[in-house]
Amino acid sequence: MKIKGIKKVTGEISVPGDKSISHRAIIFGSISKGETIVNNILLSEDTLNTIQCFMEMGIEFDIDEKNNRVKIMGKGLGGLREPKKPLDCGNSGTTMRLLSGLLVGQKFKSLLIGDDSLSNRPMDRIIVPLAKMGGNIKGVQNKYPPLEIGPSEQLNGIIYELPVASAQVKSAILLASIYSKGESVIIEKKTTRDHTERMLDFFREKEFHGRRVYVPGDVSSAAYFIVAASIIKDSRIVLKDVGVNQTRTGIIDVLKEMGANIEIKNVRMVNNEPMGDIYVSYAPLKGIRVDESLTGRLIDEIPILAVAAAFAEGTTTIRGAEELKFKESNRIESIAKELRKMSVDIVPLPDGLIIKGENKLTPARVNTHKDHRIAMALSIAAMAIEGESEILDSHWVNISYPNFYDII
Ligand code: S3P
Repeated sequence: MKIKGIKKVTGEISVPGDKSISHRAIIFGSISKGETIVNNILLSEDTLNTIQCFMEMGIEFDIDEKNNRVKIMGKGLGGLREPKKPLDCGNSGTTMRLLSGLLVGQKFKSLLIGDDSLSNRPMDRIIVPLAKMGGNIKGVQNKYPPLEIGPSEQLNGIIYELPVASAQVKSAILLASIYSKGESVIIEKKTTRDHTERMLDFFREKEFHGRRVYVPGDVSSAAYFIVAASIIKDSRIVLKDVGVNQTRTGIIDVLKEMGANIEIKNVRMVNNEPMGDIYVSYAPLKGIRVDESLTGRLIDEIPILAVAAAFAEGTTTIRGAEELKFKESNRIESIAKELRKMSVDIVPLPDGLIIKGENKLTPARVNTHKDHRIAMALSIAAMAIEGESEILDSHWVNISYPNFYDII
């Protein structure tokens, strides 16, 4: 994709449905009894993989791609059937980790596989607690996919303090605990997204009968345009109906601290999730220090935050973000390497980045490292740089935001 620098961004944008909430709606809709309708669902490669996995387990879906609407004919807590094929999670860590939690509680065996990137991502973080609960789950070297899951005699509740800040690990344990005896207690030292807790309560309220869900816009997708409007002069945009759950809005807090002009209005609740409209207009940014206490609330936004920092005055330091190494690519390395090609003064650290913001940036040909968030962050940088840049293999945006380039 070739992208030319532009003078300003203006207008009203609606971003696609939240990826994390969409995965969870598919899961809870499938294990609840009767019809669940999910409106504004994200239909991207990752969420379609989750749908496909449930189809392999006998769940029927009506997919209306034009209206981003899915009808799920849920079969109840004990209604999944043994898949005839391996369950292919593709590039999606959320699919693999959440489904593992669900599958250890089933009476059948299953095999979870993924693409090259997913096959190299750590799964010991879910294998350890799920095995402690009595789950029968094995990986390659006890760490990597494929994951082989067998029926277990009895799952028991667990008291578990998360060694890594991860909503996926927390969610795997929560899903397993639906099928286990006794209570589970999960302790997290660092806040991570709480969409599973909220949706579990929403479906529990009706004893796991089908419900209507509206998926708020994805604040992680909105973040690309929030930064674009913040760094390109004379810009002014409105992002309608975006999820503004506190566990996800760290990027807005940090950008505001850098001097960004962002306002959230019209906040209301939909199926236990807050949703609002985000108003952004250009304002000069200043570098800041982002430390560990914040990274859990903006872990997916660090590549685009690095772009914002490159356009800010002064130095931005991001620490306590070692988890970035285990995402779809090693995001510390990939964003530092590619932004350098655009003349950004950026230094990777073992747990973060140092970005000096005063350089004049130059257009470049950059790689996505097969990572959707790197592709989108670099595309926004390209929009803010005079001249033409090229984003190679830009199709990776399809993982979470298929119409990203139409919106640009
Ligand atoms: C997600 C949790 C986060 C995040 C990912 C989606 C989820 O991963 O990076 O994009 O939906 O639970 P971790 O749990 O590995 O931090």
